[in-house]
Amino acid sequence: MGFMANSPETTNMQLHLFNDEGIPRSYRHLRGSSVHAFKWINAHGNTTYVKYRWVPKAGIEGLSPDEVKEIQGEEFNHATRDLYEHIENGDYPEWDLFIQRLDPADLDSFYFDPLDATKDWPEKDFPYEHVGTMILNKNPENVFSETEQVGFNPGVLVPGIQASEDKMLQGRIFSYSDTQRYRIGANYLQLPINCPFAQTNNNTQDGVMANPKFQPTSSVNYEPSEEGLQESDEELEFDQPLPDNAVAGRNKTEKADDFRQPGELYRDFDEEKQKQIIRTLTDEWSQVKNEQVVLKLICNMYRADEQLGKTLADNLNVDITPYVGQETR
Ligand code: HEM
Repeated sequence: MGFMANSPETTNMQLHLFNDEGIPRSYRHLRGSSVHAFKWINAHGNTTYVKYRWVPKAGIEGLSPDEVKEIQGEEFNHATRDLYEHIENGDYPEWDLFIQRLDPADLDSFYFDPLDATKDWPEKDFPYEHVGTMILNKNPENVFSETEQVGFNPGVLVPGIQASEDKMLQGRIFSYSDTQRYRIGANYLQLPINCPFAQTNNNTQDGVMANPKFQPTSSVNYEPSEEGLQESDEELEFDQPLPDNAVAGRNKTEKADDFRQPGELYRDFDEEKQKQIIRTLTDEWSQVKNEQVVLKLICNMYRADEQLGKTLADNLNVDITPYVGQETR
């Protein structure tokens, strides 16, 4: 809570997480999001920014705090069992995949920075386009080799997709690979669960866990050379120059309007959902010992929505009147 209180950009995420959707009823009811924008690059080298969104066909459903106590109090891994049993019974869970697109020329056309991962791309400006469906139709045969050793990683991308300049994503593309080389092992990308189905030809050679299938057959592991691998003459996908207005670095996000989106989101919630979030935030924050943290949390919500901030302040017996009117946006 201390981190959230001191990072107003988390206000939007808090409203997503602390309503009942924050605790999915099961994995089959879980919505997915790329959070970050990625770049799609076509054969002509044209770039489009995209965000991904997975929508469960079973519907998006969450658990209320009371249901959580009841269900998880009985069985902490109910969600894993639910998923396993549905797949085992042939009732395969499905998710529709949608994308939202942004032309790089429009990067600067919004009141927020579209490459700031703490902001949503509103559906009215970025309509969802259906591009596919994922069906989970098989349980792992060996949980260790197919689940524990899996390396999900936003830095391992197929040709045609590249990371955007989103600075949080830039941190993730290094961090996951480093961790997985340590957690799983040096050549973790050669394990069956992580390797491509297609034949790969590169000069990566030997080392712990090296799979013979991926080893070069020549002792020459450099190129250009007379022997060994030759560079493919296939057209390579070159890194694209940064579009105008895109910034890659440790810069502070300009146009960081941290309160407009959470305010709009809260006012879009129906009355039931508004009550849910007020109840959950009141419960959570009443356990925070540091008064300054509670005050800052409330003030952030007040800036998003005055009524929400006042209700939380009343519920938690915090007097915010000395601070009202002093907020800077
Ligand atoms: C929107 C932001 C982020 C999301 C949604 C996210 C999501 C996740 C998820 C779902 C996992 C578990 C993966 C698994 O079970 O295999 C994970 C692990 C991890 N995350 Fe993040 N993360 C985020 C930000 C970051 C950042 C900023 C960093 C560091 C710069 C980071 C570093 C890691 C590392 C090192 C792991 C462990 C990877 C492994 O051992 O396989 N994450 N993250």
